[in-house]
Amino acid sequence: MNTKELPRFSRRSFLAASAGVAAATAMPLRPLVAAESHEYSLVAARGRTRLIGAKYPDTAVWAYNGTVPGPEIRVRQGDRLRVSVENRLDEETTVHWHGLRVPNAMDGVPHLTQKPIAPGKIFNYEFDVPDAGTYWYHPHQRGFEQVARGLYGPLIVEEREPIQVDRDLTWVLDDWRLKSDAQISDDFGNFHDMSHNGRVGNSLTVNGRAPDNFAVRGGERIRLRLINAANARIFALEFAGHRPMVIAYDGQPVDPHAAPNGRVILGPAMRMDIVIHMTNRPGERFTVTDTFYKGLEYRVLDLVYGPKPLRDRPLQSSISLAANTMPEPDLAAPIRHDVQFGGGMMGGMMMGMMGGNRVSMRDMMRNGKAWTINGVAATGHVMDPLLTLARGRTYVLALNNDTAWHHPIHLHGHSFRVISRNGKPTRHREWQDTVLMSPRERTEIAFVADNPGDWMFHCHILEHQAGGMMGVIRVA
Ligand code: C2O
Ligand code: CU
Repeated sequence: MNTKELPRFSRRSFLAASAGVAAATAMPLRPLVAAESHEYSLVAARGRTRLIGAKYPDTAVWAYNGTVPGPEIRVRQGDRLRVSVENRLDEETTVHWHGLRVPNAMDGVPHLTQKPIAPGKIFNYEFDVPDAGTYWYHPHQRGFEQVARGLYGPLIVEEREPIQVDRDLTWVLDDWRLKSDAQISDDFGNFHDMSHNGRVGNSLTVNGRAPDNFAVRGGERIRLRLINAANARIFALEFAGHRPMVIAYDGQPVDPHAAPNGRVILGPAMRMDIVIHMTNRPGERFTVTDTFYKGLEYRVLDLVYGPKPLRDRPLQSSISLAANTMPEPDLAAPIRHDVQFGGGMMGGMMMGMMGGNRVSMRDMMRNGKAWTINGVAATGHVMDPLLTLARGRTYVLALNNDTAWHHPIHLHGHSFRVISRNGKPTRHREWQDTVLMSPRERTEIAFVADNPGDWMFHCHILEHQAGGMMGVIRVA
């Protein structure tokens, strides 16, 4: 991986660069910093990129502006963002701004919030960016294939008063299911993936390249913005020899604290901002390992200390981020609802609703559905709301994972506080937009329903979403 300070591109050079699809990708992320204008262009199209190293041929991908990940959009909190999205794919698409609290019509959900962008057409997204943090963008149309083929990119909203760091870096993590010729296996949405733990791949990339050594310097303070763009893989990163401090979950500030048990856990779509102080000596090297799946631990990359320390002692200034603008839930008088997540293999034979009919699990499976929310398997993005919330009121939703599987559950249009897990109050009451639930876990989330519209509420293992684990929450 290239460890230099990321180059900053003006809009003009970015557009020029985006024309050269083929060779452009063996590069670090390209931040888009608009000097005066906040207008950006994304073109979704087929491309080729060197994903996994010189020994292999380029991989055919679908990409924004020819790069995987797509360009890093970087704006300041409070900015207005305009992005024109041109669809040069052979099928419809949309862009969803994951985690940003945008107006409903800008949320990028096909048929529910907009007409999908047809091949050859352009859609202009435009909205204010209310909160600082680490976000990302991706299609919501056939996401289980479009995202898996490479359509995603980071969206960074800078604080008005950032914390002091030596480097502010984004690592977009993805895992790919590649065949031996380095081409993407096209078994998207197969029933086995759908009914088990999703499309877990076999090749890891960080910022679109097989990770390599990562050069650091003694005394450095690095802010690492981690984004899990994988369809299904859950990461638990352990940084040997270091003590990562979590400063934000899903873009939202949290009291800085050491990553619990030294593990940085990210379900699909989740982000984490961590600060790492490089406290070791010149020439030393430390391995970052992913330990999430027992027995399948693997080395991600090594942190390698260069010969010259940057300074003797890491910076001492605060790493605490200023709060964002979410209204505080009124936990003295919330309205409560239970939500049940069901289905999957080893879930027992249940009945579910599909397309308005009551059907057996076997019939659901025959129709390519494997999962339910409150007993309903979604068959598309447009559906009757599972809950209708009164605008401005505080809600506590108890999410019950009645399955044998992990699910990262995402709510559009809002961030929520995770207030308890299995009856135990959480230590940090963290704001999130995607909460990873363990098998059989009961998790309570709390938020003010302040953003009107119909919002998707779904599992972000994209095969589970396609397999029915999706619903609509209406705020009216
Ligand atoms: Cu990241 Cu419904 O999306
Ligand atoms: Cu799931």
